[in-house]
Amino acid sequence: MSEKQHEVDDILEEQHFQHVKDAFFFYHSSAQQQLDRRQKSYDSLPQNHKDLIPTLKTRLSDTRRAIDENYKLICNIIKSTNGMFSNSTIGNSNKKISYKPLSANDMSRVQTTLKQLVRDWSVEGKTERDQSYGLILNEIEELFPLTLFNRSNIFVVVPGAGLGRLMFDIADRGFNCQGNEFSMYMLFASNFMLNTCHEVDSYHFYPWIHDTCNVFSNNDQLRVVKIPDVCPSIQGRDLNFSMAAGDFLDVYNSDSKIDCCVMCFFIDTAHNPIIYINKVFEILKPGGYWINFGPLLYHFSDTIGEISVELTYDELMNVILSKFTLIKESVGLKAGYVQNCKSMMKTEYECVFFVVQKPIC
Ligand SMILES: C[S@@+](CC[C@H](N)C(=O)[O-])C[C@H]1O[C@@H](n2cnc3c(N)ncnc32)[C@H](O)[C@@H]1O
Repeated sequence: MSEKQHEVDDILEEQHFQHVKDAFFFYHSSAQQQLDRRQKSYDSLPQNHKDLIPTLKTRLSDTRRAIDENYKLICNIIKSTNGMFSNSTIGNSNKKISYKPLSANDMSRVQTTLKQLVRDWSVEGKTERDQSYGLILNEIEELFPLTLFNRSNIFVVVPGAGLGRLMFDIADRGFNCQGNEFSMYMLFASNFMLNTCHEVDSYHFYPWIHDTCNVFSNNDQLRVVKIPDVCPSIQGRDLNFSMAAGDFLDVYNSDSKIDCCVMCFFIDTAHNPIIYINKVFEILKPGGYWINFGPLLYHFSDTIGEISVELTYDELMNVILSKFTLIKESVGLKAGYVQNCKSMMKTEYECVFFVVQKPIC
């Protein structure tokens, strides 16, 4: 890559970093604006209607306070981004960058990040984690029993690691585990959790206040969630984990020497899953394992102008088994993903789980 191209890439990355930071900062005013609309609807009611719903007024003012609390957490996340890319100038550059306007999509990504914190780092998220991470963790322990392996020598990668909990739980079982993630929203929040949270339940927030439909009770909407349920950085626990920022397809190559590649709700993020399959084959050591759990909700299926090769599970498996040996497979495994467990509407996936092995020669 030319010097000039490097410079352009640096500027674009810096611009994106600042954009995501702005999106987090914008949370407060955007959430207040959404609430103003709800308040206006309430204010427009005739008094006899207001008299019938005495709790709504309080619920709206409680929501305003909850937004303030969420924003405190967000400010801590933003604060933790100072110097987060130790081997890059991103976040510390004094290059002139232009600012892009923020959109509703940016706001929804911040709100989703809050919900992912529930999935990965709260007691409330345990049911969801058990459905997906639980299966993977049991499997990896079976594949590499302590009686036969020194797990610190087993290199596991988790592409699309989200907020890092699966990666952390794998490292907690003694493995050398690296998460990989390209979303700056995820990288901000995972950096905050993994590198700055030193105490269980040290932060609280209200992730469900923006869900205004399908709510049973006021308490459901305004319930507090505490994080983290386990402390990622307890002193004295010498866990071997890291996060590699960037596109999975660029970060790893045939020199990566990976013993096990773990995907959870990830394979369907591909424009073309065959490229992911080939990549896993390239980066695994001979005899290495690939564990996959998730649905096939192809992420680009409704994005106009983007390539999206949407294989059926049968087609996908045919490609995989042309290269790998099948070790285990289950289908129809029910799992949620960033679900509000108290909502009147929930989506449940029937996921597939498989373990395949790269042939030794
Ligand atoms: C559906 S989420 C799953 C996150 C996590 N594995 C979980 O189960 O909660 C998919 C994640 O993959 C990330 N991702 C998508 N394509 C990627 C790529 N090519 N390289 C790295 N990360 C990617 C997204 O940013 C997102 O965080």
